[in-house]
Amino acid sequence: MSGVDLLVTGAAGQLGRVVVAQGAARGLCVVGVDVAEMPLDQQAAIARTVAAQAPRAVVHCGAITNVDGCELDPLAAHRINGLATAWVAEAAAAAGAALVYVSTDFVFDGTATAPYPVDAAASPLSVYGASKRRGEEAVLAHGRPDFHVVRTSWVFGPGGRNFPRTMLDRARSGQPLKVVTDQVGRPTMTHDLAEALLDLLALRAPGGVWHAANEGQCSWHQLAVDVLREAGLGHVVVGTQTAAEYAAGLVAQGKRPPALRPSWSVLDTQKLTRLRGKPLPHYLDALRRYLPLDAAASRTAPPIPDLRGKHY
Ligand SMILES: NC(=O)c1ccc[n+]([C@@H]2O[C@H](COP(=O)([O-])OP(=O)(O)OC[C@H]3O[C@@H](n4cnc5c(N)ncnc54)[C@H](OP(=O)(O)O)[C@@H]3O)[C@@H](O)[C@H]2O)c1
Repeated sequence: MSGVDLLVTGAAGQLGRVVVAQGAARGLCVVGVDVAEMPLDQQAAIARTVAAQAPRAVVHCGAITNVDGCELDPLAAHRINGLATAWVAEAAAAAGAALVYVSTDFVFDGTATAPYPVDAAASPLSVYGASKRRGEEAVLAHGRPDFHVVRTSWVFGPGGRNFPRTMLDRARSGQPLKVVTDQVGRPTMTHDLAEALLDLLALRAPGGVWHAANEGQCSWHQLAVDVLREAGLGHVVVGTQTAAEYAAGLVAQGKRPPALRPSWSVLDTQKLTRLRGKPLPHYLDALRRYLPLDAAASRTAPPIPDLRGKHY
């Protein structure tokens, strides 16, 4: 049976919707699925959907991405991010499909002093990081030449729940801003990441681990300053605090402290750069493209209901 070119999970999410759109723009026959079409907590639904679509490749973006929420429900995090990824990998292998599993810099503990290469030892600090690591292990255990784990970081895309959006909302509503200075990473725009994920498949890259992130690195505080400046809100003052001060402030308000996050999780993306012959653009360039798209996305209904479940 001939199937679709691409099956995208998490297709209503900020990354999945862009993978669907870019896959379609490349002329691929794409099916996007999310909770309604293929609930990841049901192995049978995954097996049935993948078998029915018979994709040439699966891009697995579906996940529980609320890092602090995962601490409250570790079982759900491990089931959806870990076990369900094993089920997706099994189903993809059974269908003879290539697989791209999107993972995270939060599999690292942040103690490195140089960018993390793809073969650096994982040592997650949080339930989210541990659950995503379980997903990685499940994918890599197949040892298939067309199964990929792609770690990325600090993702933002138009219409998504992300840090730039939160900063803009807070600044525009006049709420005070105080942002962490001692966590450093590589912000990454969905559009640039999706292009890299599709390139991996198009170039028939050898299976294994890849790191994909926009060029440049910064603290959350620097990113907040950059976002507001680029959005014409450079006059808004962004206060500073350490991660420990932020956690102590929450506890003082009777709230739970946030999940532990790596203090320095800069990914080394050289392997992907060599494959594609170019790095992803700088994150400041990405921010400048993101801002007008996000403004447009917030004025219109999200495109995903028109895309899901349809063939292109
Ligand atoms: N966001 C980041 O900063 C970041 C950083 C590094 C790596 N990543 C990884 O990148 C991938 C895409 O992230 P994203 O930012 O696009 O996240 P997102 O916007 O939260 O998208 C994830 C999608 O998965 C769906 N999902 C959750 N539980 C599900 C379930 N039980 N069954 C089916 N679908 C389910 C979500 O639906 P609901 O919204 O209804 O829950 C959502 O549509 C994820 O694998 C994430 O771990 C993200």
